[in-house]
Amino acid sequence: MSERTPARQDSARSAPVRRDSAQPASERQDSTRPAPERQGPAQPDPAPQEDFTGRMLQVLNDACLGHLCSVGHRAGLFDVMAGLPAASSARIAGEAGLDERYVREWLGGMTVGGVVAYTPEDGCYRLPPEHAAVLSRAAGPDNVAAFMQYLAMMGDVEDEVLAAFRDGGGVPYSAFPHFQDVQAEETARVYDAALTGTIVPLVPGLTGRLRSGIDALDIGTGRGHAVNLLARAFPGSRFVGADISGAGIAAARAEAARWGLANARFEVADTAELTGSYDLITAFDVIHDLARPARTLAAVAGALRDDGVFLMGDIAASSELSENIGHPLGPTLYALSVFYCMTVSLAEGGAGLGTAWGRQTALRMLREAGFGDVVTREVPGDILNVYYVARKDGSGRERGGTGE
Ligand SMILES: C[S@@+](CC[C@H](N)C(=O)[O-])C[C@H]1O[C@@H](n2cnc3c(N)ncnc32)[C@H](O)[C@@H]1O
Repeated sequence: MSERTPARQDSARSAPVRRDSAQPASERQDSTRPAPERQGPAQPDPAPQEDFTGRMLQVLNDACLGHLCSVGHRAGLFDVMAGLPAASSARIAGEAGLDERYVREWLGGMTVGGVVAYTPEDGCYRLPPEHAAVLSRAAGPDNVAAFMQYLAMMGDVEDEVLAAFRDGGGVPYSAFPHFQDVQAEETARVYDAALTGTIVPLVPGLTGRLRSGIDALDIGTGRGHAVNLLARAFPGSRFVGADISGAGIAAARAEAARWGLANARFEVADTAELTGSYDLITAFDVIHDLARPARTLAAVAGALRDDGVFLMGDIAASSELSENIGHPLGPTLYALSVFYCMTVSLAEGGAGLGTAWGRQTALRMLREAGFGDVVTREVPGDILNVYYVARKDGSGRERGGTGE
């Protein structure tokens, strides 16, 4: 928050009027100035009003289209259509093993929404390859349809979130039974494509250290896919994944067993109470969700060996709201915050940092936790994440990015 508050400077100058600083400036009376006349609401300018109405209707349409895309993803319809030429609803439904009437109605929404091309002459529907490249599972980390699943997850808890608007507090993890599934699917696509080849190399020398054998911990590991990928790629190193979600840890252990990994183990544990010592600690998309982020960062610093490194992937945003205007995922970040990230933290009486806690706050908190050397790195094309490479000493070693 900016410290520049003109109302306070005014109050210092006009000493005779005692003001309650807890009262918003807009509600304060100032006896040295004439009381403003009460005015009715300003009359809207018709042209911008019409533009804005149009924009809001587009928002409504796009929100509905997003829901339909989520269903199309979950039902496998985009994947089926990506492999088909122009086809009838009956053929598409048959290939997908779905009910034709529902598929036809879904195709109607996809057609009027500009996602699917429709030819009325033969009643056939086609998913253009350019759209398949953004909506099908084959698109990997570029698949935007998978992300649309968060829309339904947010809708599921709207009543509880609304109650928290009125009463404070938050919505607990237990209200999100599908979160681990959606989150794991979403991030696995990124880890499969980029973890070992792009994200690990953000830390100079880390690939070599992992090859020669180090101890690594991933906090808030969810379903542990990142840990299992690293354990498979670097058999000489030892990996631990920790999360408070029993379901997440069970899924992580099952994957490790399926892959026959002897160097990955998983624990149900609170990030704020870390034990053991490590050369590498990672936290991917975790810290801003936590009830006790400051205590967790201090615990990370405490569990890190002197020459260890903390790799923290978190949301690429500014701590200044005005700097997030125009962020390509701006409304999505704040919606996810209200409906998940902030509310799960507040449900535990926590810090409620919010999804867009931003770089400035992250860097300050890392510094306060004892990280004297922090570098931020970005992966080209990734608009969602920024990576903080943090070390405890500030002596400065090889830096590959922006020193903060
Ligand atoms: C947004 S998810 C990220 C999961 C995983 N790192 C990924 O990238 O898919 C945040 C994770 O933090 C876990 N978490 C939240 N609070 C925690 C705590 N106090 N201790 C351990 N894990 C916690 C949640 O259960 C969830 O799995």
